[in-house]
Amino acid sequence: MNKRYIINDILSKKGKKKIVALTCYSAQFSHIFDSFTDILLVGDSLGMVIYGHHNTHNVTTRMMIDHGKAVVETTKNSLIVIDLPFGTYEKSKEKAFSTAAKIIKKTGANAVKLEGGEELFETIKFLVNRGIPVMGHIGLLPQRISSLGKFGVVGKSIASQRKILNDAKVLQKAGVFALVIEAVKENLGKKITNSLSIPTIGIGAGRYCDGQILVSDDLLGLFKKFTPKFVKKYANLHDKVDVAIKKYALDVVSGKFPDNETIYK
Ligand code: KIV
Repeated sequence: MNKRYIINDILSKKGKKKIVALTCYSAQFSHIFDSFTDILLVGDSLGMVIYGHHNTHNVTTRMMIDHGKAVVETTKNSLIVIDLPFGTYEKSKEKAFSTAAKIIKKTGANAVKLEGGEELFETIKFLVNRGIPVMGHIGLLPQRISSLGKFGVVGKSIASQRKILNDAKVLQKAGVFALVIEAVKENLGKKITNSLSIPTIGIGAGRYCDGQILVSDDLLGLFKKFTPKFVKKYANLHDKVDVAIKKYALDVVSGKFPDNETIYK
């Protein structure tokens, strides 16, 4: 019988075995990914990937619960982490706790993730001390796109590199069990990884993080228009789906369909 990973399994991989993580939003893919991943993140990137939004701002707790439940119920191995949506945890630690507890209770997920640095110290400590495992997220923070202006590499100046490194150390002190580092140069990803006792999970943060995560639809090549520079495409499903649907449409239009006589005989 398979046993789902627990937080300690992830912690014990630090420095020994790389952690395989992926975003996952639905039962359609969860059962395939689950055989190969240590962590599945029901990321709020689902707002853009599944719902076609321009950013993650309009993702709701309801959406995270519905997709989170689908992923938890159709997996057996991976540790499941669910993002707290923008606007549901920043105001106070109590508000963060009620959102996180609701998501954990309704989905059965193992942990939540939130975006930000040292300003979240008290919030994270509050959640962790009350039994909610938290994954941190530093570097590029997609939920702060309005202040950033655009998605892209961060930590270009010495001052901002120092700030990101400090954020990492403060979040570890607050009690996060792992840290996503997004869109920083490889040497900063390496420095953060070597400075922490908890695992780092990189996305566009170079080779030296303790694990890697990608938006699954990016690596599967499901988007035609845009894929971040750091993504290696392992498949080109967009074109495969395009060809399949075109063939189906042609069959329908030309009346070339299997006859019922043969199928139901
Ligand atoms: O929402 C998401 O998919 C994420 C990943 C980019 C790490 O936070």
